[in-house]
Amino acid sequence: MKIGSVKENKNIEKRIAITPDIVKKYSSHGFEICLSENYGTHIGIDDKQYLDLGAKIFQDDKEILGSSDLILQLGMLSDENCSSLRENQILIGALNPYKNKNSLKDLVKKRINVFSLELLPRITRAQSMDILSSQANLAGYKAVIESFSNFEKAIPMMMTAAGTVPAAKVLVVGAGVAGLQAIATAKRMGAIVFATDVRMASKEQVESLGGKFLTVEGSENLETEGGYAKEASDDFKQKQEELLSETLKKIDIVICTALIPGKKAPLIVKDNMINNMQAGSVIYDLAAVQGGNTAFTEADKIIEKNGVKIMGESNILNKLPISASSLYAKNMFNFVENLFDKENKKININLEDEIIEKTLIK
Ligand code: NAI
Repeated sequence: MKIGSVKENKNIEKRIAITPDIVKKYSSHGFEICLSENYGTHIGIDDKQYLDLGAKIFQDDKEILGSSDLILQLGMLSDENCSSLRENQILIGALNPYKNKNSLKDLVKKRINVFSLELLPRITRAQSMDILSSQANLAGYKAVIESFSNFEKAIPMMMTAAGTVPAAKVLVVGAGVAGLQAIATAKRMGAIVFATDVRMASKEQVESLGGKFLTVEGSENLETEGGYAKEASDDFKQKQEELLSETLKKIDIVICTALIPGKKAPLIVKDNMINNMQAGSVIYDLAAVQGGNTAFTEADKIIEKNGVKIMGESNILNKLPISASSLYAKNMFNFVENLFDKENKKININLEDEIIEKTLIK
């Protein structure tokens, strides 16, 4: 069986789906790996490393797409690449099923089996395949690093003969996977950390990392059965606004991570709140691509309002593509292994397996 992966559009995606470490694992199951020329060169992995491990390198992506049984990617394939696919092939990636609904439907009509890993159920057995967690964790870390490097004061408290530098105060909005890593990272660097979320379960997690949880008083727990956030009511939004308006006056750095699956990101940090923040403060908005949690977020720009910098990128993982690829490639291998029937040495799309059923685009 052949597994192929073609170059991503490097202007928007620097991560790769198959790292050399993982080639060895696929080979041990008898898979043959086919990759584009210069597949990982941009992150320091040359073709020779892949060739030495038995992978095959092709100049023409069409050859890979036309002959592989499984195609493993990050983002959605271009229309041209999609047209090279044929019936019964399997395409797996982080294909953004909300945004790419129509292109994915066309592939399904062509009887291509498409799996999008954002749709994985958040169950224990799927944890090793969970790209949302592995990538959000790195994003949360990097958002702190990026915001701290744009903040023009020191982060930890320093008591010196020349006087005391106070510790920076950080607020994390949304304490899911990215938010919790942001809290941990900011704490490690000596900041005083506050966090808020609509899910009450996150309070204990925030506190266990040494953060102070800001509860929206009198609010109900806005958590779905699957553990995700529900959209907040107007009453909740009003109370949250009052709480944050006061808090933000004293905060130096805000890390925004609030998301509601499949919807536009909630607007939480409004213009009047930003106007009341201290000049020199920094906001890093990880929700930038989904519309942003602040009134002024623009992806890939640093917007300045009243001396407050508002940052956000369309793909922060491009800033640590080596770590991100390493985890993504492992997640993907674990997913493929779950699809693989080891006894009969073939792929088995068993729709009774919740992981397979939920990720398959229908
Ligand atoms: P996410 O990326 O969809 O959202 C980020 C955070 O924003 C969430 O904590 C959400 O509650 C919060 N949020 C949404 N609207 C908000 C608002 N208006 N104000 C403040 N906060 C708001 O979430 P993520 O990080 O993917 O995690 C979602 C859930 O999945 C969590 O319960 C997490 O524990 C769970 N999970 C379970 C795993 C498992 O395998 N069992 C693995 C990873 C996550």
